[in-house]
Amino acid sequence: MVTFKKVVLFGSNGQIGEPILEALANCKTQSFDITAVISPNADQPSASKSPNVTVQSADIFKKQDLVPLLKNADVVISALNGKGLEAQALIQDVAAEAGVKRFYPSEYGMHHIYRKPGDDTGHVHPMWDQKALINERAVRHPAIASGAMSYTMIGCGDFYNQPREPVWCPWSQKDVESYTFHILGSADAKADFTHTHDFARYLVASLCAPDVSHNAELNFTSEHISHTEIAALLEKHSGKKVEMLKISDDDKWAVVEDPKKAPKEQTESAFPVDFWYLVKGTQGDGAFWRPPGQVHNHLFPDVQVTTFDMYFKEMFGKSSS
Ligand SMILES: NC(=O)c1ccc[n+]([C@@H]2O[C@H](COP(=O)([O-])OP(=O)(O)OC[C@H]3O[C@@H](n4cnc5c(N)ncnc54)[C@H](OP(=O)(O)O)[C@@H]3O)[C@@H](O)[C@H]2O)c1
Repeated sequence: MVTFKKVVLFGSNGQIGEPILEALANCKTQSFDITAVISPNADQPSASKSPNVTVQSADIFKKQDLVPLLKNADVVISALNGKGLEAQALIQDVAAEAGVKRFYPSEYGMHHIYRKPGDDTGHVHPMWDQKALINERAVRHPAIASGAMSYTMIGCGDFYNQPREPVWCPWSQKDVESYTFHILGSADAKADFTHTHDFARYLVASLCAPDVSHNAELNFTSEHISHTEIAALLEKHSGKKVEMLKISDDDKWAVVEDPKKAPKEQTESAFPVDFWYLVKGTQGDGAFWRPPGQVHNHLFPDVQVTTFDMYFKEMFGKSSS
């Protein structure tokens, strides 16, 4: 059986990269030699002091920086985002030349075609299209086609514990007097949500079972739940009121067509406002979940999930239950 030892992680100080680095460093099943790549002058990732982690800074757009990083590596994990995603193709090329055996593209989401009322064709938001293009290229890389390299691509639900997203994840804020959930469509529609630390442990579990995750597209969810249910749990644990601010279909499509029409307070996000409208709109349409057969939690049953109930209990203290 194959066992991977040397792992190079790109985007190691990002929102998803940090939990992946922690899960790799603290893996109980096996020990990895981990190179955590950061951009020049970037902050050290939180797990940088772990004995099995070496932090290396590099310009990921320069082949001469990548070659020494990837020498003798078994696995490359990309947790890149934004501009950095554009370097992923070069990273995979250099990884192939170095004989890297497994590649994890920075997928970590769920894509949707959206349909406007009265329009007889589907549309893809540029952010989903960018990811789709990058993913298509990653899994059809010549090294993968030849069998020299394999891939593991992991999708998930909406990451719900993103404190930097006060509008997208209002429940992740602690020091507020009350909460406002922005509802597009039905608040009762259930959607797939994922906790970043659960996700990171799932990714590492897949790395510890290379045969199971060989050339595999896997999906992982922490909880399938509606905004109405999240609101009830949040009110119970925080003791604070949750207001449901309904955005009409007309307003939704107006903002998707022209994001400048969004109220300013709704633009507080790392993502463009039309993008989160489409994500929340898909949730409210009851379409932001994967059907049975497309969720693969069962492959790694030791990975514990964090439900919203557990997350709020941790956030507001055990006395809140
Ligand atoms: N399912 C969901 O709800 C959800 C939510 C958010 C993200 N995601 C996905 O998760 C993945 C990671 O996103 P994230 O939220 O963790 O992103 P993030 O916090 O912005 O982190 C991105 C990482 O990429 C690095 N990076 C970006 N540009 C770079 C460059 N030019 N050179 C070197 N490094 C660069 C950043 O390093 P520096 O900061 O040092 O440049 C950082 O470590 C993406 O695929 C994203 O689409 C999914």
